[in-house]
Amino acid sequence: MSPARHREPNAENIRELVYAFYDRVRADALLGPVFDAVLQGRWDDHLPKMCLFWSSLVLGEKGYRGNVQQAHQPLAGVEPRHFSRWLHLFLDTVCDRYEPAAAVRFMEPALRIAQSLQLSRFGWDYTIPPEQQALLERIAPKRARDDSPHERSGDER
Ligand code: HEM
Repeated sequence: MSPARHREPNAENIRELVYAFYDRVRADALLGPVFDAVLQGRWDDHLPKMCLFWSSLVLGEKGYRGNVQQAHQPLAGVEPRHFSRWLHLFLDTVCDRYEPAAAVRFMEPALRIAQSLQLSRFGWDYTIPPEQQALLERIAPKRARDDSPHERSGDER
């Protein structure tokens, strides 16, 4: 596929994004079984919920109610590589469908939330794998990063 990519996210194209992303997740050998084990018979509830979730993050709409941390706590066998795969698949799906400036509006929260899910799962001294750190650079290479060096303190001049 490569029709023109969206410049502006809206409820309709977010719905298409969510369904396309979870099609890829379900077909993926690493992620598919993890999701299917939990969501078997419940995909029809999960997907509309994820549309509301992304619409609330990207469009500022109010519809999503839930606790993202809590939903992931019971997942068995999830390792850092699952998060890396999730982020890669999501990035590919987003970048296929949106212009770069719009893609960043999805990827920034995705990376931030993935980071916080990993820290609570693997412990506060866990280091986010470099391949995940590199993803944001891939779509937004010119943006200053939060962890970029600041002016050195203690320098009197
Ligand atoms: C290794 C990566 C991930 C896996 C395997 C995973 C798996 C799942 C599963 C199985 C559920 C359904 C839980 C249930 O209803 O019982 C779920 C829910 C959800 N996931 Fe993930 N997830 C991952 C990463 C993420 C990331 C990075 C985000 C956000 C950017 C996210 C956002 C959500 C949200 C919003 C829900 C719905 C929570 C609710 O019930 O309100 N997930 N996830």
